[in-house]
Amino acid sequence: MEFSAKTIDVVKRASPCLVLGVHKADPPVLARSGQRIDQASQNELSRLLSLGDFDATVGSTQMLYRLSGIKSQRVLLVGLGTPDDFTPSVVRRAAKSAAMTLNRLSVEAAHFTLLDSCSAKRIYRFGRSVIEGIGEALYRYDETLSEKRPVRLNRVTLVVTRSQLDQAQAAVRHGQALVNGIGLTKTLSNLPGNICTPGYLAREAQKLQQSHPIKTTVLDEAAMKRKKMGALLSVSRGSREPAKLIVMEYHGGNQGDPPVALVGKGLTFDAGGISIKPAAAMDEMKFDMCGGASVFGVIRAIAEMELRLNVVGIIPSSENLPDGAANKPGDIVTSMSGTTIEVLNTDAEGRLILCDALTYTEKFKPACVIDIATLTGACVIALGAHASGLFSNCDALAEELFRAGEASGDRAWKLPVWESYTRQLKSNFADLANIGGKGAGAVTAACFLKHFARQFDWAHLDIAGTAWHSGSDKGATGRPVSLLVEFLLGRSGEPLHD
Ligand code: BES
Ligand code: MN
Ligand code: ZN
Repeated sequence: MEFSAKTIDVVKRASPCLVLGVHKADPPVLARSGQRIDQASQNELSRLLSLGDFDATVGSTQMLYRLSGIKSQRVLLVGLGTPDDFTPSVVRRAAKSAAMTLNRLSVEAAHFTLLDSCSAKRIYRFGRSVIEGIGEALYRYDETLSEKRPVRLNRVTLVVTRSQLDQAQAAVRHGQALVNGIGLTKTLSNLPGNICTPGYLAREAQKLQQSHPIKTTVLDEAAMKRKKMGALLSVSRGSREPAKLIVMEYHGGNQGDPPVALVGKGLTFDAGGISIKPAAAMDEMKFDMCGGASVFGVIRAIAEMELRLNVVGIIPSSENLPDGAANKPGDIVTSMSGTTIEVLNTDAEGRLILCDALTYTEKFKPACVIDIATLTGACVIALGAHASGLFSNCDALAEELFRAGEASGDRAWKLPVWESYTRQLKSNFADLANIGGKGAGAVTAACFLKHFARQFDWAHLDIAGTAWHSGSDKGATGRPVSLLVEFLLGRSGEPLHD
């Protein structure tokens, strides 16, 4: 896909398809480009709209052919809802729906005029949303399908005024980078557990280093053993696939500036171990590496944006399977930090691999650490698919992440990590138990991680409910890449970023 931003004359220019926004009203209201075309076609457009068939609900579409007075053969009307509720999320949904319609009709190129009714200082934000929506519409997973699903639409131009051009071009550049990052996250997440193993992820990280300005390091089990990562290694002992600790460093900032660390759970298949899971929907536990996959996506996106910031991505990756050598309930393991852990449930493995990764992260002297994990079923019960769970030992960091969620539409909601919850993790035989009993499962999991995050400002995103869809549209969502990229854009002080 090739995105660009241009100033064109919508009447004189012959586009394969002009995409025009229409606002809901009685009768529906055309935006600026639409009004020009209406005049050129001697009100043909407004006569069509007055029939009332097209009600301009967000994302509704209507293709029109060969309007008189203009050079383009096709005009696609897209509903933008009421003018008062015109937001980035509305324009994203409208652009997504338009792109789906165009692709279905095999239109290869189009000019989108959806920024007509957007205020001057919000062109960057709305422009990015248009690109993001189109990216969502055109994502395809076909890695393991014998019939590929072709994407026909391959050139999209954002039509803007001359004064909007700089902002729109930045939006295109950043939007394209974000779409690429989300695509990588989705594909890694969607790949099955027999292909996407810890070794596969490690090789993907090394591949990313070939094409992008990042440095990849992979620790194998011997290296992890030397670092005494007893918690992480206790999980991979139950599997034939050797664990990997993947490190990707992006240096876009000043030398010596402390990096933001992103730690992503990369559990490539979670059967639960000896505390085995029930069979129903167990296939979805291939998605237990979505946190790790989101770190890949964020690193790719910010590298393509060339953000002036240092970021280190750390992905502990393993399988969790039952085996003669696997963790048994009651086993006690010693983490890299020296804390002993009683493994009361081998299915609470995410925190075991993450705690050692968090301790390892200390060596980067990070500005802050954010871990991202499909950590608990309890978080799905608490927040569903609407928001990721947000937990932190630092209120300012939590607030910053919350705001990034609101701005990007990839939302998160804060839950507590009070000491009183940590008490649920008390063990008679070790410093900590790996489960905290019946109540507040998402919170006690976060409290477990918090214990290993004493050396830095830390936040935890539980994405168990947001990282993938179940049912007929089963597949990864790419969340929370948007949230995290938004957060990093803010930290990098990008001038156009509002
Ligand atoms: N990967 C799962 C969490 C999960 C479950 C995510 C379902 C999405 C959907 C995690 O490793 C796990 O099994 N957690 C246990 C913890 C429990 C044993 C305390 C859970 O949530 O049941
Ligand atoms: Mn588990
Ligand atoms: Zn898991």
